Amino acid sequence: MTRRRPLVAANWKMNGTLASVRPLLDGILAGMAAGDSGPEVAVCTPYIYIPECQSRLQGTVVVLGAQNVSEHESGAYTGEIAAAMLQDFGCRYVIVGHSERRHLYGESDHQVAEKFAMAVGHGMAPILCVGELLQEREDGDTEAVVAAQLDTVIKEAGIAAFANAVIAYEPVWAIGTGRTASPEQAQEVHAFIRLRLARHDDGIADKIRILYGGSVKADNAADIFSMADIDGGLIGGASLVAGEFLAICQATVDG
Ligand code: 13P
Repeated sequence: MTRRRPLVAANWKMNGTLASVRPLLDGILAGMAAGDSGPEVAVCTPYIYIPECQSRLQGTVVVLGAQNVSEHESGAYTGEIAAAMLQDFGCRYVIVGHSERRHLYGESDHQVAEKFAMAVGHGMAPILCVGELLQEREDGDTEAVVAAQLDTVIKEAGIAAFANAVIAYEPVWAIGTGRTASPEQAQEVHAFIRLRLARHDDGIADKIRILYGGSVKADNAADIFSMADIDGGLIGGASLVAGEFLAICQATVDG
């Protein structure tokens, strides 16, 4: 089995002001170990803070990401941001298909697949989010939901597009609720995702990092990260406090 370097990605969502983003980033940078012995660390910031973050992250070990991207190359799409624009500002990662985008803004599996392909086409690594609603879990549909979300992207973008991609399993009922999946519940879905990819390409399935997201905190991270198919986390609320986020990063080493 390949050793996968863990990734911890902050998803700041629609939080912060210039006055809070600067000290948050400085706090994260101040606590980062030099070198590459720990996890890879990324911050996915609101679009408007990308230039500020880019200049602050220059020459550091923390990499930059965005929270969304248009499925279109360019044109008359008021309010949207194109992959080429994110590429211009040094984004290495871009979250696609976050459950808030799917459920609050109606993004379809097909649209998510287009965004995924667009990110890959512009040299960025998509962080593809998948996950079920509480009702779907209670109905025993978790695997079917996750499979459908994944299969649409495999079908439309092609398995080769996953070579540099990341997947984040985020059960919707665990996001921002303080109710995290148990390490065993998460591991079960992570293993399912890896197996699903292996149907198409063993090597990619073995190499790809699958993050867990949903109420990860400093005090539950090590247990979650200790599971065999969990390769790091996508962190919402806890990424807004430098000390908490750094402790989560450290948990990949302890986990
Ligand atoms: P919370 O960590 O706030 O539950 O959010 C998880 C998430 O949605 C990350 O993308």
